[in-house]
Amino acid sequence: VNHQDQDSLMAYQWLTKFYHHILEHAKESKHAKDYLYNRGLNDEMIERFQIGFSPEVQELTPQFLEKKGFNLQQMVQSGLLMRNDHNKVYDRFRGRIIFPIRNHLGKTVGFGGRALGDDEPKYLNSSESSLFQKGKMLFNFDLARSAIKKEKQAILFEGYMDVISAFQVGIENGVATLGTSITDTQASLLKRYVDTVVICYDGDHAGREASYQAAQRLKKAGCDVRIGILPTQLDPDAYIKEYGAKRFKHEVIEASSTYPAFTMFYFKGKYNLQVEADQMAYIDQITNELATVERAIDREHYARELANQFNLSIENIVEEIDKKRSQNH
Ligand code: UTP
Ligand code: MN
Ligand code: MN
Ligand code: MN
Ligand code: MN
Repeated sequence: VNHQDQDSLMAYQWLTKFYHHILEHAKESKHAKDYLYNRGLNDEMIERFQIGFSPEVQELTPQFLEKKGFNLQQMVQSGLLMRNDHNKVYDRFRGRIIFPIRNHLGKTVGFGGRALGDDEPKYLNSSESSLFQKGKMLFNFDLARSAIKKEKQAILFEGYMDVISAFQVGIENGVATLGTSITDTQASLLKRYVDTVVICYDGDHAGREASYQAAQRLKKAGCDVRIGILPTQLDPDAYIKEYGAKRFKHEVIEASSTYPAFTMFYFKGKYNLQVEADQMAYIDQITNELATVERAIDREHYARELANQFNLSIENIVEEIDKKRSQNH
């Protein structure tokens, strides 16, 4: 780590404390704290995740860093602070809830700042740097690691609040890709620690598309993948709030689909199965997927489902799958 990175790293640790202290103790932060309470977070999670608030008063953050001995010009250069048209240094997170993003060693390397209202963007993130590369890390990996090892399973979420809400109800093996789809690096990182990854993205269209992508990447990395499916209007955080932790565990995590079952469901949304040509395309697509399934009895299981669904003979479907398998090899 070079000198400048060393300074940034230190500045991130100080800022984590600063924002967190402001959230906990400044009376100007009451609305921010109420926002988190209204979303169902408790003090323990605020502490555990060192959640903070960036003050509305623009000068406070630069003043704090200066007092701690940091060079403001350098802070601007490394993206921790901004400079406006009037040459004034300011904190771009002002007025936002701060979620520290920690690396695998538990050190803050970036922040996610959530708007309290409907400001756009909803989340503002620290700029990428040599310290903070979104595609190479997973949010909460440091805290989740022991639970991931113990349970031999990780849960992959989209966002900060999904991870934290799950953590609050005792599901401590959750990590997040922070809205972007998982990279090969992140997939291999998980593969080093787990057998199974349960993808638990949002129930909306974007979440479903991302689930399919993530499933393929994780499979490629050698993980056993499962996919939790949520009602379209909910994400894991909202689901837990609406139905509780028990139902989330049983009906989403434990009931998560295997990869082939998920693809059968996923591609149904892509075709109009009332139309014959679409039926054919669907069957072609699913047999492609089933051709990648390792175990013969698993292939047979899904082949039977497909056969029943379209009133076809299982022999023909198995033959089709086997043909595709031999082409793949
Ligand atoms: P979502 O839009 O699903 O947000 O994006 P969320 O996590 O449910 O947030 P809440 O519950 O409204 O607070 C998923 C993740 O994508 C990233 C964030 O990491 C977010 O948690 N994201 C989203 C951004 O970085 N910027 C955005 O403007 C929106
Ligand atoms: Mn505290
Ligand atoms: Mn989403
Ligand atoms: Mn969401
Ligand atoms: Mn949400």
